[in-house]
Amino acid sequence: MNATVTRTPLIAGNWKMNFDHLQAIAFVQKLAWGLKDAKHDFSDAEVAVFPPFTDLRSVQTLLAADRLSLSLGAQDVSQHQSGAFTGDISAAMLTKLDVQYVIVGHSERRHGHGESNDVVAAKAAAISQTGMVPVICVGETAADLEEHGAAAVPVAQLRAALATLPAGSPFVVAYEPVWAIGSGQAATPEQAQSVAQALRETIIEVSGEDAAATTRVLYGGSVTSENIAAFMRQSDVDGALVGGASLKVDEFQRIIRFRQHVGA
Ligand code: 13P
Repeated sequence: MNATVTRTPLIAGNWKMNFDHLQAIAFVQKLAWGLKDAKHDFSDAEVAVFPPFTDLRSVQTLLAADRLSLSLGAQDVSQHQSGAFTGDISAAMLTKLDVQYVIVGHSERRHGHGESNDVVAAKAAAISQTGMVPVICVGETAADLEEHGAAAVPVAQLRAALATLPAGSPFVVAYEPVWAIGSGQAATPEQAQSVAQALRETIIEVSGEDAAATTRVLYGGSVTSENIAAFMRQSDVDGALVGGASLKVDEFQRIIRFRQHVGA
């Protein structure tokens, strides 16, 4: 691995189905002011929020008007470009809202909406083709863990998602063990490191050394201000995809500013 490459950590808040657009505006204002007061250096940690679709326009307008340094993400996208897909949102619609990142393959969509590896791959390709960055979520269930160990399923899911990605297009990987999501039972930092390393080795194989050196691999699943520092000390963990704790403005800021409160 190229030791000279540094990856700016990414702390991403996946709001899931929380906050209407008014709550979203109030939250992002508070977050931005708090980070400004604390003189947060965005080269220490990039910060991205992933609001529901109905909030995107409001958050986009706020970020642009106040020139805030937060990145904007969406939680899902259609794999189709346009047409008779009632209720779906296209990648082109998201780029018009200055969306930079889109989550694909979250376990709540794989399991709750039956999204297969093929659908995830098609969505990732649709995101890349419009110039946005897919945040490819992978992770094993408790049963997978028992049957195959931690890395096998996440690695297979990543391999499938990368298969259709245009060569050279950037992506982020989020390792989220399904058993750790919303359970209060995070993986250990060593578990996260071991799977993150296996994922990076997969990126080397599929996309090459340079892509592997620059691609950020996040950990997600019951991340809090108490455990973030230990994850961030792992050499292959480059940030976090945060669910519940990203909805509490003070707690999310403590996670973002992990370097300050732990001397990491
Ligand atoms: P929690 O942080 O609530 O466990 O959720 C993690 C997650 O699913 C982020 O995408």
